[in-house]
Formats: sequence, structure tokens, C-alpha cells
Amino acid sequence: MLDLIAEIRHLKGQNNATILAHYYQDGEIQELADFTGDSLKLARAATKVTTSTIVFCGVHFMAETAKILNPDKRVLLPDLQAGCSLAESCPADKLARYQEMLRINGRRFQTVAYINSTAAVKALSDWVVTSGNAESILRRVPADHEILFVPDRHLGQYLQEVTGRKMILWDGSCIVHEIFSVGDLLALKRQLPKAITLAHPECPANIREHSDFVGGTEAMLKHLATYREPTDFLVATEVNMMWQMQSQFPQHRYHPVPGITCACNKCPHMARNTLEKLRDCLAHGAPEIVWQPSFHRAREVLERSLLS
Ligand code: 13P
Repeated sequence: MLDLIAEIRHLKGQNNATILAHYYQDGEIQELADFTGDSLKLARAATKVTTSTIVFCGVHFMAETAKILNPDKRVLLPDLQAGCSLAESCPADKLARYQEMLRINGRRFQTVAYINSTAAVKALSDWVVTSGNAESILRRVPADHEILFVPDRHLGQYLQEVTGRKMILWDGSCIVHEIFSVGDLLALKRQLPKAITLAHPECPANIREHSDFVGGTEAMLKHLATYREPTDFLVATEVNMMWQMQSQFPQHRYHPVPGITCACNKCPHMARNTLEKLRDCLAHGAPEIVWQPSFHRAREVLERSLLS
């Protein structure tokens, strides 16, 4: 393991590469990264990278976003199969047909895509949002337009609640956040009655309504920073998030929802990236995200939404 880490560090220097890792990656990968963050922070960090290569330890849409925002850089993803159930739930051709049907019916709308979507879907959208900037972007949608929000219906529902804007919701969900059991959460709350519950807005309403704080991964860290005394936190998001919480705020105790015996809160796509695959992709310069025609239009939408 130590050899493997030394090898990755050596190859990173040799290949003039920067490693970006999402908070849902295994701790050992986050530890090796030059930047860790949520989707928004990493997309922005990618535009500041000075090396010729970015290795994105995350899922496909994240690496694709980094490439779209940095066409001249080589962007590598340790496992190209690291997908996302949300992105899969919204194929671009199906979205285009749905938009056409709305237009034929005389509906005036703008399409807002969660960043957990393919480049082709972003290219069909007016805005791209992350959990970190969704509320401010929604304020930019003209009041006389309806909002078609794709693909996460739980995040969409949450955003309807906090902004008061009614939306047409696509029927997608995240396999990790969808699976939390409210019964197990309530049992855990009975065991630890003083604990604070943190939930990602990708969680269904029945989990969110029993939570003290709802926010994306970066917002969760900001919220933790407001607690000085050692506190118990129940965490309703991907389990690796607790590694970052523990390393930034070690005075607290973190408990995964639904419970320590269940491993279903681990994202199988994120888990495809391993130290071995990180080493191999640096050694071989592959797999690489290759520029696609849809990236041009997706770039306009991403720059407008995330960088300005
Ligand atoms: P954030 O880290 O942006 O909150 O999003 C989590 C996520 O959905 C990753 O796929």
C-alpha cells in the first residue's frame, strides 16, 4: 500500500498531473488528492489547474464537466464505468422529446439540469445547478417561465420547498440517497436523542423532514464548523463523506444513517475508482475523457451557471 501511494505520487509528478477527488471517494484517495470538494468546488478548481493533466477521482459526469471547462487539458478518469444513477435516468433523446411536447402544448419554460447529468442533457438545458448553487441559479430563471428540473425529483422537490418556485420534475433519483430508511433513522435518533441529523437534498422528503440540516456536501462541512463542543451527528449521505468530516472536525462523532451494519450507503460507482486504477491511469494516460460535439453547447451553459 505504501509502495502504491509512493508510485502514484511519483507518476503524478512525472506526468504533470493534478488529482481532484470528490468527498465520496475512499479516504485514501481523498488523502492523495491536490483538491477535494463537492461538485461545484471541484468544477471551479478544475479551471484553476496549471498542470497539463487532470485526474478526476469521481464519477463520469464530474470528469466530463472538468473536460468541458478545460478543453485543452487531458482529463483522465480511473474507471470510465464510474457512472451515476441520476445521469442514467435522463437520456438526452427522451428529454428532447419531452421538451418538444411541452413546447407543442404552448408551455413557456426553461430547463434546469442538476450537474449529475450527461453533457448531452446539459447541452439541452438553460442552466446547470449543483447542490451548492441551485437556489441562486433558480432566482435567475425569469418569473414568467416554468421550470423543467431534471433529473433528481427529490432535489427538485426540496428546491420547490425552499424557493417557492413550482417545477415540472423529471422522475430520477440517486440510488444511494433514495435507500435511507426513515425507520432506521428514527431508531438511531432514539438511541442518540441529542444528535444532529444532516441530510443531502438528494434524500427523499421523509428523511429530510426528520433532519436538522439539509445541504450538499460542502454546505454540511460549513455547518459542522459552527459546532465547537463535541457533538453526535447522524449523516444521511454517501458514507465516505464521514472521512472528510472526521479529518476536518475530529472532535465530533459521526454516525451513518441508517446504521453501522449497513453498507448500502456506499456509492457503487464512486467505489469503482481504486488506488490501483488511479496508478494505472497515470501510468497509461488512459482512460481519457474525449471531446464530444455536445460539449460545445454544454460549455456555454456550464460557464454561465458555474463560473459567473
Ligand atoms: P455535492 O457533493 O455537490 O453535494 O453532490 C453530491 C453528489 O451528488 C455527487 O454525485
